[in-house]
Amino acid sequence: MEHRIALLGFGVVGQGFAEIIQQKSQRLMEQFGLNAKIVAVSDVIKGSVYHPDGLSIPELLKSVRETGNINGYPEQEGLIRGLNSFETIQRSNADTIVEVTFTDVKTGQPAIDHCRYSFEHGKNVIMSNKGPVALAFGELQSLADKQHVRWGFEGSVMSGTPALRMPITSLAGNEINEIQGILNGTTNYMLTRMEEGLSYKEALMEAQKNGYAEADPTSDVEGFDALYKTVILANVILQYPLKTHDVERQGISHLTKEDIKQAKQEQKKWKLIAKLKKENGHLIASVKPEKVGLDHPLANITGATNAITYHCDLAGPVTLIGAGAGKVETGFSILIDLINIHRKQL
Ligand code: HSE
Repeated sequence: MEHRIALLGFGVVGQGFAEIIQQKSQRLMEQFGLNAKIVAVSDVIKGSVYHPDGLSIPELLKSVRETGNINGYPEQEGLIRGLNSFETIQRSNADTIVEVTFTDVKTGQPAIDHCRYSFEHGKNVIMSNKGPVALAFGELQSLADKQHVRWGFEGSVMSGTPALRMPITSLAGNEINEIQGILNGTTNYMLTRMEEGLSYKEALMEAQKNGYAEADPTSDVEGFDALYKTVILANVILQYPLKTHDVERQGISHLTKEDIKQAKQEQKKWKLIAKLKKENGHLIASVKPEKVGLDHPLANITGATNAITYHCDLAGPVTLIGAGAGKVETGFSILIDLINIHRKQL
């Protein structure tokens, strides 16, 4: 069955997703009967093309590779250029909008408006942006439900590692009383490198060079990135309408090489731990550095890897370890939402 997709944004994640769709087209068809077709791409900087019969992914990628934009996409009958994001949502024949714009996580925009507009026009949305889920989960999910469309955001926490879908589907029936996680790759990488002798500054520079850090690393090192993910987990997994200001937050910027060394002497490690704990009908939420013993389930998570433990009343503690960022991993998070929308599963 044909599934038409419009991409809003054609940066690293958008291109990564397009490459996956191209490489996996035969497998998607054989395994799921899914004929995923990109009909539109609209990017505020790189340009915009739409064809109701579908666009050539190799031509889109070639144009970006050679010119940095998609204006070089070859002319063809019926091709429409220049639609902005809202016109693309309204005028294209896409079933699903893949929202991968550069979104300000503090305001959630423009992704929140893109979600609203898409749902109002009867279109599903898939995204990996944290902002809309952390800031407007209740409103947007209600709107999607009312309009009988789907909203996928698996990639907003731990990219392609199923931190949201796994508890929702495979741990269903448990009461999850506590969640603890390492949800930010940059800070975990920095703490690991500082254990190996690097200074805070050197470790941050390396994390930036490796592409783990956000454009403004303040979000990583001061714990905001992990805080948004914590709010998403509370809302989506624990059904608790936690807001960003409800979370106690402290980053790692005050930690020195000496603090790390001291912990090592005590057979401990500093980790930036995100925690959600149900207590007497309340939810206690924090993101802060904690000195954990080497037997702690998250102590041995090193480098940019993320991990999360769900404490379940029936299954006991279940820990998931995996990537928290990356072009292919985040591209996959979009794909798995698409597959599940197609096969009408969660
Ligand atoms: N900067 C983030 C991290 C990327 O370091 O984990 C994914 O949100």
